[in-house]
Amino acid sequence: MCLHNGSVTTPLLFQPLTFGSMRLHTRSWVPAMVPWRSNEAGEATPEVLAWYERFAQGQPGALVVEATGVRDVKSGPLLRISADHYVPGLRRLTDTVRAASQGRTRLFVQLIDFLAIRRRPEKAVWVRRFWQLKSQHRERLCAITGSSQWLDMTETELREAALALPHTDLLRVLDEREVEELEMGWRERVTDTQQAHIQALPQTLPALFAAAARRARAAGFDGVELHCAHAYTLASFLSRRNERTDGYGGTRAARARLPLEVLAAVRTAVGSDFVVGVRLLGDEAIAGGSTIDDAQDYALWFAQAGVEFVSVSRGGKFEDARQPKVGEAAYPYTGPSGHACMPTIKSHGDPRGVNLPLARAIRAHVRAGGWQTPIVGAGGIDHMALAERALQTGDCDLVAAARQTLADPDWWRKAELGREHEVRRCSYTNYCEGLDQRHKQVTCRLWDRDLITLDGDGGLSRSLDGKRRLLAPPWQP
Ligand SMILES: Cc1cc2nc3c(=O)[nH]c(=O)nc-3n(C[C@H](O)[C@H](O)[C@H](O)COP(=O)(O)O)c2cc1C
Ligand code: SF4
Repeated sequence: MCLHNGSVTTPLLFQPLTFGSMRLHTRSWVPAMVPWRSNEAGEATPEVLAWYERFAQGQPGALVVEATGVRDVKSGPLLRISADHYVPGLRRLTDTVRAASQGRTRLFVQLIDFLAIRRRPEKAVWVRRFWQLKSQHRERLCAITGSSQWLDMTETELREAALALPHTDLLRVLDEREVEELEMGWRERVTDTQQAHIQALPQTLPALFAAAARRARAAGFDGVELHCAHAYTLASFLSRRNERTDGYGGTRAARARLPLEVLAAVRTAVGSDFVVGVRLLGDEAIAGGSTIDDAQDYALWFAQAGVEFVSVSRGGKFEDARQPKVGEAAYPYTGPSGHACMPTIKSHGDPRGVNLPLARAIRAHVRAGGWQTPIVGAGGIDHMALAERALQTGDCDLVAAARQTLADPDWWRKAELGREHEVRRCSYTNYCEGLDQRHKQVTCRLWDRDLITLDGDGGLSRSLDGKRRLLAPPWQP
């Protein structure tokens, strides 16, 4: 509560917001965060339930369950919603959140599709097994070494001889895509239309997302968020780098076509009384990528097509990811665009609120187009004053905090109760993201101190390495 000229006013942050078929009791939002708590089958394990139960105890207005796969493919311990047998487990998850938040928190699940990626190979393995030799490679080898011996070699001889070349010479022999395969690991793109399953994505994805959304509804979620952000399939369709020539790439409108068709299929599957939102990028933050101009139009088109919220993120792309170690896969949150997505003290000095201008510009464009669709802003929000200012000044309609809520799931309630001095404040050094990168159970560095003082307590669940507590310390209001 604030005292204004003697009268008591409730901060906007703690006032309800109604949109679509939904009423949020506050404008606080916990965006999707993958905690690597599922299993190889992609199930809602007891650890997944405990993770979301802990967030629900903080009673945010909305909580978005991590990126959850719509396609029934092996994807490590990533949650899945790709078949009906996942519904009972997800129902336990929605029941758990409802009970822990005393019915106050509305629950979404983020629906994701992603393309295949392989680990960075050993150089010798790639040259001997994966390199598809073509005549132009022989010609380039002759030009670079000044010798015509390459023309007469068998493939095996050529591969061995190429391996003996200085690395920089070998790179000059390869085309851009081959260099990437060797240096970063092989990765599919939406533009690989020579592959039948990539060409067919516009035919296959709408039904996959629609079926997943139907399951989300059956499992008791209040809505779904279509993941059109970061490095994943729908975001890659939206990207300015999408040059497909089949009507699903090239122009801005063509790039938006598949995400809009997915949205239409989802809406048909779930009906009008179930919330469907999107997460998109205000800026891809890579060379040649989409910018705020694209994002403004996308958000407006999504609003016109009936999405009920637009959550704005930034960056998180493969294109500028750091080179992985041999045997590891590239990770989209490691390069400059990754830092734009999860800004740190190191990357930004002060990361607080850095991505709000994108949400603001998108919101203004959507409003100018005549739509009141709520816009969710995120990125370094960790103080109530900052959250309240973002709402009051029209940056966004809902305030999302990922890492701050990870550091202290109760921080919203502490702020609401006027006990902000008790908030465990995120230090934005991305220890959590480092764990995420290695697909290790995500925890917060700030919890570990408590583990030391709690050493010996029987009930504390710990990470697989036994060194970290799996959940934020409890708090009694
Ligand atoms: C461990 C971790 C996992 C994340 N997983 C997802 C995800 O599954 N989907 C998504 O859209 N964003 C994901 N994010 C990004 C956050 O939702 C958020 O946009 C980003 O961290 C910036 O907000 P913040 O400064 O409040 O942390 C993740 C972030 C972290 C730290
Ligand atoms: S590990 Fe660090 S960056 Fe991540 S939530 Fe905790 S304090 Fe914030």
